[in-house]
Amino acid sequence: MFERLVYVSRAAPGITARDCYDIIRVAHNRNSQFGLTGALLFLDGYFIQVLEGDRFRMRERFQVIAADRRHTDVDLRQTVACDETLFTGEWMALRSDAEVDPAVKARFGYRPGLPADAFGGEQIVAFVQACCQQHAAAA
Ligand SMILES: Cc1cc2nc3c(=O)[nH]c(=O)nc-3n(C[C@H](O)[C@H](O)[C@H](O)COP(=O)(O)O)c2cc1C
Repeated sequence: MFERLVYVSRAAPGITARDCYDIIRVAHNRNSQFGLTGALLFLDGYFIQVLEGDRFRMRERFQVIAADRRHTDVDLRQTVACDETLFTGEWMALRSDAEVDPAVKARFGYRPGLPADAFGGEQIVAFVQACCQQHAAAA
């Protein structure tokens, strides 16, 4: 049994796509060590992250991530138990503004920060998956 969480946060002032590569480099390292997978979007100054894996490991790592000063207003939108992972083999996929097809955004009715009153956890996870699949298909 695994657990999956999704959160939305606001990037700290001055954070750019370049900083995301630093984040991802360390994330790959740690996530592969702990058997965690997922995806991170950096869109319009917000982070949207899906993190999944062993419940204990994931919660432990999320505590570290949530306290990271490179983002604020970490808003946990969903935590669910699941039988399988959605991002198997992805220690942490990354997509930023330039890599997300506007058609995918339009299909999901995307708005910056995916406001909680309009976007549920399942919807956000589906959006993150679509952003990653679209990229893979175009590669
Ligand atoms: C938006 C965001 C997403 C992050 N995602 C991960 C992640 O998936 N896995 C991870 O280990 N660290 C992630 N980090 C980095 C952690 O906050 C932390 O800096 C890193 O894990 C190193 O922590 P440690 O050396 O104390 O273990 C993320 C940071 C930010 C700002």
